[in-house]
Amino acid sequence: MVEAGGSNPPGPIGDGMKATAKANANIALVKYWGKRDEALILPHNSSISMTCDAMETVTTVEFSENYDTDTAIINDEELHSDQKRVYDHISLIRKMAGIKEKAKIVSESNFPVAAGLASSASGFAALTVAAAAAAGLKLSEKELSIVARQGSGSACRSIFGGFVEWKKGTKSSDSYAEQIAGKDHWKDFRMIATIVKEARKAVSSRSGMSQTVKTSPYYGGWLSSIEEDLKGMREAIRSKNFTAAGSLAEYNALKMHCTMMTSKPPIIYWTPATVEIMNAVREWRQDLESYFTMDAGPNVKVMCLKKDEKELRQRLSELDGVVKTISCAPGDGSSVSKNHLFD
Ligand code: PMV
Repeated sequence: MVEAGGSNPPGPIGDGMKATAKANANIALVKYWGKRDEALILPHNSSISMTCDAMETVTTVEFSENYDTDTAIINDEELHSDQKRVYDHISLIRKMAGIKEKAKIVSESNFPVAAGLASSASGFAALTVAAAAAAGLKLSEKELSIVARQGSGSACRSIFGGFVEWKKGTKSSDSYAEQIAGKDHWKDFRMIATIVKEARKAVSSRSGMSQTVKTSPYYGGWLSSIEEDLKGMREAIRSKNFTAAGSLAEYNALKMHCTMMTSKPPIIYWTPATVEIMNAVREWRQDLESYFTMDAGPNVKVMCLKKDEKELRQRLSELDGVVKTISCAPGDGSSVSKNHLFD
C-alpha cells in the first residue's frame, strides 16, 4: 500500500527525531469530489487549486521511546484516540520509515479549522512533511504529495505553492499533485475566505462525497464534464484570464453542490448568509469583477484581482452574517521550519 519512499534509508534529518513543518491551505478552482478508492484516497476526477498564503498550519512531530502512545494536540485541544485519521497517518509514516517510536504531535492553524476552510489540506500536508522529516525519510515533493493524499485528498495539493493540479492517476503511485504555475506567475489573484456566522455542524467532506457518488443521479454529469473544466482552467491560469478562471471556478463549484443537493439524503451546506454572499457577488460583478466558490461548508471564498481587494472586503464585511474575511494571494508550498512548537 505504501508506495512512496519505502526504500529510503531511515536516519534523522535535522533535530534528532523531531521536526516542524508549515503548509498553507489551498482552495480548489476545479473541485475534487468523489473517491474511486476510499482507503487509498484515489479520486474519480483530477482537480486544480490555488495555495493560499494567509491560511497556514504549523506542525511539530517528535518520535521518541519516551512516549507510550501517540498524542496530538491540535489548536490547544487534545485529539481523542477515536479521531483516527491523524494517528493512522502517523502509523503509515512510521511503517515507511521502519521505526517503532510513538509520536507527540502539536499543530496550530492561524485560521478557523473544520469550517469548510480547507484545514485538512494544510493540516495533513504539514503533518506529512514534519513526520517524514522527524522519521528520517528523505522524500521528494512527489512522494510527499502521495503520502499527504492518503491523509486527506486535498492535502496532496498543499505540498506545492501557486497553482496546482492533482492528477487522478491510475493507481496510488501516479495520483499526486504538480505545480501548474508558481506563486509569482499571477501575483494579483486574490481568494477572500469569507467566514459566515457559526453554522450547524456540516457533513464531513469524506462522508458527503461517498454519499454523492453512491446516490446522486447527477454524479455522472459531474464526471463527464470535468475534463472540459480542467482544460479551461489550465488555460485561464496560463494566460492569466481572470474572467475565464473566475467564472469557470464558480460554475464548477455550483455543479459540485448540485451533485450534493441531489444525493440521498440531500446535503445542503449553504446557509442564508452563504446565499446572500453569492447573490451579492453576482450583483457587484457589474462594477467590481468577482466570483465565488464554496466547499464542504457554508463559508464562501470570493475571487477578485488585487486592485479590487480592499473594496470587495469592505462590501463583504458589511453583509449580514459575515463574521470575518481572510484575503489570500497565491502562496508557498509546504516546507520544514526550525521553530518547534514544543521543547
Ligand atoms: O480532501 P478533503 O477531504 O479535504 O476534500 C476536499 C473536498 C473539497 O474541498 C470540497 C474540494 C477540493 O477539491 O478541495
